[in-house]
Amino acid sequence: MSDSAANSEPDHPFLSVRDIHKSYGGLKAIDGVDLDIQSGEIVALVGDNGAGKSTLIKMLCGALRPDGGELRLRGVPIEFASPKDATDSGIETVHQSLGLVDTLTVPENVFLGREETFRVFGLFRQLDRAKMRSETRGLLERFGISVPTLNEPVIKLSGGQRQTIAISRLLLSEPSLLIMDEPMAALGVDEGRRVMELVSSLRDKGIAILMISHNLEHVFQIADRVVVLKNGRLVGAKRTGDTTRESVVAMITLGTA
Ligand SMILES: Nc1ncnc2c1ncn2[C@@H]1O[C@H](COP(=O)(O)OP(=O)(O)O)[C@@H](O)[C@H]1O
Ligand SMILES: [Mg+2]
Repeated sequence: MSDSAANSEPDHPFLSVRDIHKSYGGLKAIDGVDLDIQSGEIVALVGDNGAGKSTLIKMLCGALRPDGGELRLRGVPIEFASPKDATDSGIETVHQSLGLVDTLTVPENVFLGREETFRVFGLFRQLDRAKMRSETRGLLERFGISVPTLNEPVIKLSGGQRQTIAISRLLLSEPSLLIMDEPMAALGVDEGRRVMELVSSLRDKGIAILMISHNLEHVFQIADRVVVLKNGRLVGAKRTGDTTRESVVAMITLGTA
């Protein structure tokens, strides 16, 4: 545990964003946004194209430096100079591209960039395939995930299975916050439901989830809160139990809470 984590106070949100700003030239893509994400809650981030959703999550995962404002982790101010800083702080992100390599198998994808190796005769480094396979199997079991085979390249898996693998590989590092860009987009009804079940089970394990979604049906099925952006500004943040799809649509289109 780092010093800042040891000093942090448990009753603070896992992540707090205060008055964060980002401009591209003269365009204010994010213009003074506040956001709190608690451990064990699913927050949906919604808004029209160009509202600033991607810009906001890029600042939270260390891919983009804010022009101003503050990030706090469990109450402690923090700055991310790179995506590695964010992952070191327990924030993992599933981008829309998923970051999988089509030609590699499930274990090879899960361990991509952190391959398990062993030394042969104390000399050569060899990939420990058996260990990667058994750890992958354990990881998938722990999260109740089934895939038809671990031996085939992931290109042979369905969209939902690929999304699941993209999420599982990030769980290896036991993140505190998982950020997802449209995790259920482009999935069929059954597959979307399975991915939603996975995301709900991660919330139930205490992971904080921030999820961009265009699908308000999904948002109302699984999110605890919904945060609406328009033109880089926060329109409002509501508990899904305290609002309706109609009023969220009004927030997205009219920009009034
Ligand atoms: N790299 C960039 N350079 C210039 N403008 C950008 C860049 N990325 C995003 N924008 C602009 O910033 C605004 C917010 O974009 P974005 O965060 O991608 O919104 P969303 O993800 O909600 O669709 C838009 O007007 C977009 O055109
Ligand atoms: Mg976007």
